[in-house]
Amino acid sequence: MREAVQDAVNRVDQRRLWQRLMEMARIGAIPGNGVNRAAFSPEDIVARKLLLSWARARRFTVAMDAIGNLFIRRAGTDPHAAPVMTGSHMDSQPRGGRFDGVYGVLAGLEALEAIEQAGVRTRHPLELVAWSNEEGGRFPPCTMGSAVYTGAKSMGDFLEVKDNEGIALKDALARTLAATPEAERRELNGPAAAYIEAHIEQGPLLEREGKTIGVVTGIQGLCWFNVEIFGETAHAGTTPLGLRKDALREALAAIHALHALTRDASDTVRFTIGRLLIAPNSPNSVPSHVLFSVDVRHPDPETIARLSEAIEPTVRQAVARCSVKVTPTLHDDPCAFDPAVVECVEQAAQSLDLGHRRMPSGASHDAMYMARVCPTGMIFVPCEKGISHNEAENARPEDLAAGARVLTAALLELANR
Ligand code: GLV
Ligand code: MN
Ligand code: MN
Repeated sequence: MREAVQDAVNRVDQRRLWQRLMEMARIGAIPGNGVNRAAFSPEDIVARKLLLSWARARRFTVAMDAIGNLFIRRAGTDPHAAPVMTGSHMDSQPRGGRFDGVYGVLAGLEALEAIEQAGVRTRHPLELVAWSNEEGGRFPPCTMGSAVYTGAKSMGDFLEVKDNEGIALKDALARTLAATPEAERRELNGPAAAYIEAHIEQGPLLEREGKTIGVVTGIQGLCWFNVEIFGETAHAGTTPLGLRKDALREALAAIHALHALTRDASDTVRFTIGRLLIAPNSPNSVPSHVLFSVDVRHPDPETIARLSEAIEPTVRQAVARCSVKVTPTLHDDPCAFDPAVVECVEQAAQSLDLGHRRMPSGASHDAMYMARVCPTGMIFVPCEKGISHNEAENARPEDLAAGARVLTAALLELANR
């Protein structure tokens, strides 16, 4: 490893990284050591402002685009070179943990600070991004900020999306943008020379094998839908069952049919119905409207395509008396990361003498969209028992710092190519 790179890597500060993670974890803290920091919520705004304050203290330039993605830039020596980017997200699941997403953002900040403190110059600028609404827990679908940044989706696709309280994304987004005037507005869709995202593994393999670094090779495919069942509300005490158009009863039939459709003896298909809204949501009124989400994932694009095509017919066949609307909200084929970036991450782990292994990602990440526009890779670090999307999510300070060191070395390698 070159001396300058080693100097920067040595300046990655485990204590500073951990303290910042714990400071972020206080924003939206929930019982059980968890975090509830929904996209474009007041808590998200506080987290954004804290990140910007740390970046500005180092005199990095800060900017934000129309979907609220935040960009923190350290200049390079070539004014024409596109940035080498890193980042992740700061929003969380409603019962999320302290590391999913925010670790990748703070590891990126740690890398930029270590490089700055070591005074290492890079040809490409280095740019840290905190993507908006990666989780999609409040405003589906997930990975929204990177989908818009890379041009895979447009802002207009999402502005009318509503949360469980009926608040429209466009209003929550407007409040978020207005709350951070310190970030200069920049265009959507900037160029990128490369992208590396650090993240906790969210699975048990690294811990089980006693390895510190996951060299991520790609991400499995996924498709999301909103399924709506429209019935008719009626009096629970007086309306005979035979005369009802009960949206929940029919939704349950559809859900059973979807479970049958996605049954898989090899246990490779991931199928989840995680969101259910019911109206009027009163014990003595027959439900008139049900909305439920569908999340299907698989490593093979043909399986994703086959299951995706079968969702709507399966629901329609199961529903007898109500009407049905099926809206696809996301379809991402599996992605394979750039071999040169994968190798760069592997080399960095190797030269830092860290136990590592190649592995695919079961969870989705903004890296999936970035892989469409530039050479991309990811770094995983272990998390306790593989638990994630759960308050109990945990990781060790030394593993988190090791991931930030690998990130620092890999960014410097890419930024001087
Ligand atoms: C991201 O959290 C995902 O759903 O994989
Ligand atoms: Mn995440
Ligand atoms: Mn997540």
